[in-house]
Amino acid sequence: MGTRTLLGKALNRLASKVTPPAPSAPQPEAAPTEPAEPRPAPAAAVEPAETPIPMPVLKPEHVVGARLFADREQMISWLPVPEGAVIAEVGVARGDFSEIMLKHLQPKQFVAFDLFDMHEYPIFWGIPSEVLFEGLTHHDFYRKRFSDRSSLVTLEVGPSHEGMARYDDGTFDLIYIDAGHDYESVRRDAVVARAKLKDDGVLVFNDYIMYDHLIGTPYGIIQVVNDIVVNDGWHVVGFALQKDMFCDIAIQAAPLAADSADAGD
Ligand SMILES: C[S@@+](CC[C@H](N)C(=O)[O-])C[C@H]1O[C@@H](n2cnc3c(N)ncnc32)[C@H](O)[C@@H]1O
Repeated sequence: MGTRTLLGKALNRLASKVTPPAPSAPQPEAAPTEPAEPRPAPAAAVEPAETPIPMPVLKPEHVVGARLFADREQMISWLPVPEGAVIAEVGVARGDFSEIMLKHLQPKQFVAFDLFDMHEYPIFWGIPSEVLFEGLTHHDFYRKRFSDRSSLVTLEVGPSHEGMARYDDGTFDLIYIDAGHDYESVRRDAVVARAKLKDDGVLVFNDYIMYDHLIGTPYGIIQVVNDIVVNDGWHVVGFALQKDMFCDIAIQAAPLAADSADAGD
């Protein structure tokens, strides 16, 4: 079994493992105190109100013709992407899903947008970065992994919304979004990605889930995707399940072509 396979298995295992929080240290017993003077009730709470993130709700017409897939690899291989496409992955990590997209979609150009700074964290996904990137920097690891396809794979280092902005509008046939997962980051990426997508291009968002139950963090993907679909007239074309429900959703501005909807039947 190769190192990469072993690592992949370790990643999968660790990704579904939650380290329980350390038990809190016992608190010293409080010294007995005199009963406190009764105090006036505080004035009405003055906590600053947080602006809620809008959550448009999908309706049946938004999912007409959409297909359900057992996993994201199956969905990617089905998507209506032309031969010789230009594809971007926004947030690539070790390149495991880049590999899958390259295999199934055979693009003429693949652009990998990432901060490429994961090696700076001593541990990532519960694995020492040294092990994750085989002693290399994140950038060098990814570049080495795809060195046999260097004319095809372009690395764009830095914040993804800035990197995408350097490309002409209408460049990409497919953009896979999986970088920052908080609402603002996803929204920023989605705004630029839409401009850089061809009219009949597809946006795929990883982690269509409200909350990361493995690390206890809210995500903003559902709000961003639903806003595009409900308020801007896009359509859901595919939905891919994942064992921990970190599902993928594919959306398109143009209605689904009948031949794509039938593909695989
Ligand atoms: C969940 S990982 C991507 C996993 C990858 N798509 C896959 O499926 O194998 C998220 C990646 O996004 C990158 N990232 C996070 N915030 C970013 C940002 N603002 N701009 C560019 N990359 C970012 C991280 O460095 C990391 O590599």
